[in-house]
Amino acid sequence: MDTGGYAQWFRASTPYISAHRNRTFVVLLGGEAMDHGNLANIVHDLALLHILGVRLVLVHGARPQIDRALPSCQFHGHRRITDRDSLSTVLGVYGQLHARLAAFFSTGLPTSPLRNADIATITGNFIVAQPVGVVDGVDHLFTGQVRKVHANRIRAALDNRALVLLSPVGYSPSGQAFNLASDELAADVALALEADKLIMFDEHGYIRDETGRNRTNLTPAQLDELLDRTQPANAYQLRAMLRAGRGGLPRGHLVSFVEDGALLQELFTARGHGTQVSEFRSQLTRPARLEDVAGIVEVIRPLEEAGVLVRRDRDRLEQEIDNFLVAEVDGIVVGCCALYPFDAAAEIACVAVNDAYRKISSKPGIGVELLSAAEQRARNAGIDTLFLLTTQTRDWFLEQGFTDAGTNDLPAPRQGMYNYQRNSKVMIKKLEPSDD
Ligand SMILES: CC(C)(COP(=O)(O)OP(=O)(O)OC[C@H]1O[C@@H](n2cnc3c(N)ncnc32)[C@H](O)[C@@H]1OP(=O)(O)O)[C@@H](O)C(=O)NCCC(=O)NCCS
Repeated sequence: MDTGGYAQWFRASTPYISAHRNRTFVVLLGGEAMDHGNLANIVHDLALLHILGVRLVLVHGARPQIDRALPSCQFHGHRRITDRDSLSTVLGVYGQLHARLAAFFSTGLPTSPLRNADIATITGNFIVAQPVGVVDGVDHLFTGQVRKVHANRIRAALDNRALVLLSPVGYSPSGQAFNLASDELAADVALALEADKLIMFDEHGYIRDETGRNRTNLTPAQLDELLDRTQPANAYQLRAMLRAGRGGLPRGHLVSFVEDGALLQELFTARGHGTQVSEFRSQLTRPARLEDVAGIVEVIRPLEEAGVLVRRDRDRLEQEIDNFLVAEVDGIVVGCCALYPFDAAAEIACVAVNDAYRKISSKPGIGVELLSAAEQRARNAGIDTLFLLTTQTRDWFLEQGFTDAGTNDLPAPRQGMYNYQRNSKVMIKKLEPSDD
């Protein structure tokens, strides 16, 4: 990347840096990721997140490593059956992987990106486990499941700026260690901590639909249907993410452990680089607040520069903020729309969506949602007619039910402000009264 590109990328990541600060992310590094040559880069990226103020809990898996150590181990479904002898081997493998991660985070060599980072990792008896028991007549022995997460102990460690490292082991009140499924553990920890994100890795880094297309956003309901239809190899991992999503986790992410930088791109760019699972579409639009002004400016500046929107300075935006609605994704303003009442009519203005969030896979588009939220606001205010002026977006507004009109159709005060040089097209839409 050249200097200009680098500076631009760094600047564009600013809203994400503030959005992620003090948020809790639970990250699952599965056994395949632990085996991969890109692991050191992923650890550096996690260290960067920690330095930027993200509260990190890192869970590791060990499936291929245990397969190698115990080649004749039995499974029931996706669960490994852990007998007394294999439990000690499993705990030995976990110990090695845990030590490897702790060593990575301790690297302070001058040649390492982690020099001066001074990251404390903490581990402990945070997980209470219970045996899975006998399922379909098969005794799972020392294979366990999470009974309770000591969320307060983990939070205390995070409050102390430590990075919490968890191996998939839990302890029963009788003092017995149990082998846990790492994906289930990660989901349980994310739910217990009321984490903001659960991040998982796989080789490909996107959830694909039945046509092989990468999906960038899915709601839990869409993921559920997709898993039934496609049954991917990592379905049990994605089912754990789905369970967390259904339980109230705001966002799940699947990213590639093979591609260097995929995690940072997913978290710090509008376009992302992976699949995000969230209910965000149902809570997308809301009235704008004063602190949204910077985000609105980010969205509209390129369109003002291209002449699509009339230029508004920051002061005016601040004064008129109550007229605005915004669309928010991941705590970031990605679109806006303004409504200016003129008696029984109102002007729709400044409809804009960040370029990276246009043409997204799920419909309706964010622009359509903003417009319908503005229409609802107008109806609630007893307004029966909407009008707007546009130079380049007539066809889109036609699709949204607006029709061509003339300057005479504008409310009298607005006619006086019409800019003939700009020669905008006038469009109107009659609103049906609200059902409620
Ligand atoms: C217009 C806008 C708000 C729509 O956002 P959106 O609802 O999220 O939808 P998309 O951008 O994904 O576009 C949806 C469809 O409308 C089409 N479309 C977008 N802008 C268009 C335009 N200016 N003229 C005609 N069609 C347009 C897209 O090609 C797309 O078509 P498809 O469904 O066949 O793929 C968004 O494209 C935008 O911000 N455009 C620039 C700003 C602008 O023109 N604002 C209006 C100022 S008056």
